[in-house]
Amino acid sequence: MDAVDVLQLDHRKIEKLFSEFQTAATPRSAALGIIRTALLAHAQAEQQVFYPALEQWASDEVEHAIEEHQGVEERLNELRAMDIDGEEFSPKFFELMDSVENHIGEEEAPGGLLEVARQRLSEEQLSDLATEVQRIKTISEQAA
Ligand SMILES: [Fe+2]
Ligand SMILES: [Fe+2]
Repeated sequence: MDAVDVLQLDHRKIEKLFSEFQTAATPRSAALGIIRTALLAHAQAEQQVFYPALEQWASDEVEHAIEEHQGVEERLNELRAMDIDGEEFSPKFFELMDSVENHIGEEEAPGGLLEVARQRLSEEQLSDLATEVQRIKTISEQAA
């Protein structure tokens, strides 16, 4: 698996966590914690190793993506401070879901950062990046 495969797999995992949250198979506060950990680890890995590798070819896209990550993190912090069974929680949760889905859509769209990576980076670079992405994710997950 190269770095693009790893990040895409993460995207699918995050989408699955969102849909599981709504089926309530896991207690909501635990499920929210799992979503938070997964999102922050993914964003950290992208920002520390993946985006920097693309900066020279797609600096505007990288800047935009980092702003979106900040928006996602702000929403996660707001959700954490809310009463999970309160009335305001669901609208804010849907806001988070929308912003994440929109961001994933942009990364995976034609001309998006995942495609830029496949076009610009060698197989070896993409493979090395996969190792780095996994490393950063593990550090971030353990710190959560
Ligand atoms: Fe991202
Ligand atoms: Fe991503």
